[in-house]
Amino acid sequence: MNNFFDRIANELKIITEEGNFRSLKKISDRRGKITEKDGKSLLNFSSNDYLGFCDDSKLQKEFYSALDSNPYKYSPGSSASRLLGGNFELYDKLENEIESLYQIDNRKALVFNSGYHANLGIIQALCKKGDLIISDKLNHASIIDGARLSEAEFIRYAHNDHVHLEKILSDNPDRNKLIITESVFSMDGDSADIAGLCELKKKYNAMLYLDEAHSFGVYGSNGGGMASELNLLSQIDILVATFGKAAGGVGAFIYAENNIIDYLINKCRSFIYSTALPVVSINWNLFALGEIMISQSRRNHLKHISNILRNRLNTAGLQTSGNSHIVPVFVGKSSDAVMFSSFLENESIAAFAVRPPTVPVGSSRLRLSLSSAFTVSEIEHAADKIIEAAGKIL
Ligand SMILES: Cc1ncc(COP(=O)(O)O)c(C=O)c1O
Repeated sequence: MNNFFDRIANELKIITEEGNFRSLKKISDRRGKITEKDGKSLLNFSSNDYLGFCDDSKLQKEFYSALDSNPYKYSPGSSASRLLGGNFELYDKLENEIESLYQIDNRKALVFNSGYHANLGIIQALCKKGDLIISDKLNHASIIDGARLSEAEFIRYAHNDHVHLEKILSDNPDRNKLIITESVFSMDGDSADIAGLCELKKKYNAMLYLDEAHSFGVYGSNGGGMASELNLLSQIDILVATFGKAAGGVGAFIYAENNIIDYLINKCRSFIYSTALPVVSINWNLFALGEIMISQSRRNHLKHISNILRNRLNTAGLQTSGNSHIVPVFVGKSSDAVMFSSFLENESIAAFAVRPPTVPVGSSRLRLSLSSAFTVSEIEHAADKIIEAAGKIL
């Protein structure tokens, strides 16, 4: 037998024995906060539709009716990369809108096909041999992969541990240093101390890269994210956010100094060598960006229901972390997390188990991500069911 096949079979066996085998779940329909699986409607705690845009038929109607009849506006493909004929003028419009959201002199925006493409390509393009990438231990896989693809040295600091980070910074005085963090961490729902990171980056002359995937749309009075909310935007050298979560679309963007953007257009492989997003997606992102800016009541409601859920679970003795709209419920063993998730599915709640390698061994969990489309009574009902499941399984 060929070695590849042996090795693959063996690894699959181990993954299964450890309770970490993943398979694709068939979703036959999705109506915003409701997802349909095997003919059953489930309240969806597994989406990243934080502002409920996917659930909002009024928004969707408004969007489609504003598109004129030119079929190009609906085109499902773009036929080329942006450098080779896929750079529709709508891209400019979208990038200009992002720029007017943030408004810092000498900075501009560049749209990518996804957050994964953005992190992978930007980090690889900017960091060279001899440089040092210092990344929070819990940063997303796309950041890790970008760092690995670059020729720079890659060190991870313990999660949110600025003492550890400072030691690494001070041990490397003469190198180009890039500190990378998420603002809201995707699997733990906690946040980076952005103000503290800005201090450190100044003190050690480093560059700061902030991935706002889970905070764009959700924080800031105009939805610009956590750096905007904290008034620290001008100190963030590279800001990345995705349209795939709160904006309810697909794609991502970077906002950074003009030279960095021009450099990426010339050097960033994931930008250069991939077909551009279709016009309909760019159009939606443009529309969603406008909605994000005026969605403060959705942001307030999301915060309110996140607090209700976290308080209820904590009062019942369940372990959660963070204080955002992402509420992990720590379970421990992968097999328990899977059982937990199946129990909830029987109760018409979709909350998928997150297991290694996405999270460290022994910290399997349910990741509950909330949407402003949820009502308080839906949240209270879900909390009751989660507490009941915990009583049975843990
Ligand atoms: C922190 C972070 N960055 C980037 C991404 C990738 O974004 P996208 O889904 O647009 O590829 C994710 C996706 O979950 C994420 O959590």
